[in-house]
Amino acid sequence: MKILVSGASGHLGHLIIRNLLERGVSKEQIVAGARHTNRARDLEAQGIKVIPFDYDQPATLEAGLKGITHFMMISVSQNDTPVHQHDLVIEAAAKANLEVLVFTSIFRAKESNLPLAPIMRAAEEEIEALGIPHVFLRDNAYLEMYLSNVMQAIQTGQLVSSAGDAKIAGVSRFDIAEAAAIVLTHPEYYGQTLELAGDQAFTFKDLAQLAQTYRKAPVTYQPITLAQSHQMMKQAGFPKHDLAVMDQLEKVTASGALNTDDHTLSEILGHATLTIDDLVKRYLMS
Ligand SMILES: NC(=O)c1ccc[n+]([C@@H]2O[C@H](COP(=O)([O-])OP(=O)(O)OC[C@H]3O[C@@H](n4cnc5c(N)ncnc54)[C@H](OP(=O)(O)O)[C@@H]3O)[C@@H](O)[C@H]2O)c1
Repeated sequence: MKILVSGASGHLGHLIIRNLLERGVSKEQIVAGARHTNRARDLEAQGIKVIPFDYDQPATLEAGLKGITHFMMISVSQNDTPVHQHDLVIEAAAKANLEVLVFTSIFRAKESNLPLAPIMRAAEEEIEALGIPHVFLRDNAYLEMYLSNVMQAIQTGQLVSSAGDAKIAGVSRFDIAEAAAIVLTHPEYYGQTLELAGDQAFTFKDLAQLAQTYRKAPVTYQPITLAQSHQMMKQAGFPKHDLAVMDQLEKVTASGALNTDDHTLSEILGHATLTIDDLVKRYLMS
């Protein structure tokens, strides 16, 4: 088994490598692919081989995938990422002799209206069309995104949101990375599409209550409309394109589309998923 983890300089890439090592995969079996190798120096210092692997540079992709049997492909998606961003890397993967490609997709990718869904759908479709053996990890919204809401509410005593009473079954990157390491090393998962969400869904009102327990003073929850939220972000100077992406994200969140009672993730992990409270505790202790 030779595992290439791309996007290794990022949060998820780092955590997946850490989980692979903890599960007994040797350093020699892991290759860390990074667009900017200097951002993965810490991995090199741990004895992991770091190679250049840039989704826009085909030469790095073909060279990087040589001899690889298991490819942990981290999706990339910024507000301005083109829909077909992953095509070159998937084409290179199709030429490699892979036992599996594990791809970090997005929750309910086929029907999702999230701004990043078209990029993930396009990648999933390309992987399927080229007949690459795969697992799709369809991650729900990362809990880490909401950590800043809680921390700000602890500091200011206020939490403003357009999400209404919508529940969010968010997942921590820690749990996603652990699941990725399990899936990579257990062939019984190969061929599956896994929708990964947290066990305990929460509302923004719950986040305000959580902040209150740490602030030890009242935290006011102020529900606002999508239009009010748009106006606030516009006044804060968000560029037009980012504004459109944020509007769409808030609309999907308020619709309740990020809620589920699917427990696939905790079944894979063999333990309950981390909650937003767990993350706040970890953050405050670090
Ligand atoms: N946020 C969510 O709720 C959510 C939900 C589902 C899925 N996801 C997906 O999960 C992915 C990973 O999350 P994360 O927290 O690990 O993100 P992150 O910390 O921003 O890491 C992204 C990684 O991708 C690399 N990268 C960017 N463009 C690249 C390119 N052209 N070629 C090669 N590598 C490139 C970055 O490299 P550099 O260091 O060179 O920039 C970085 O290592 C996200 O990108 C997103 O697609 C997110």
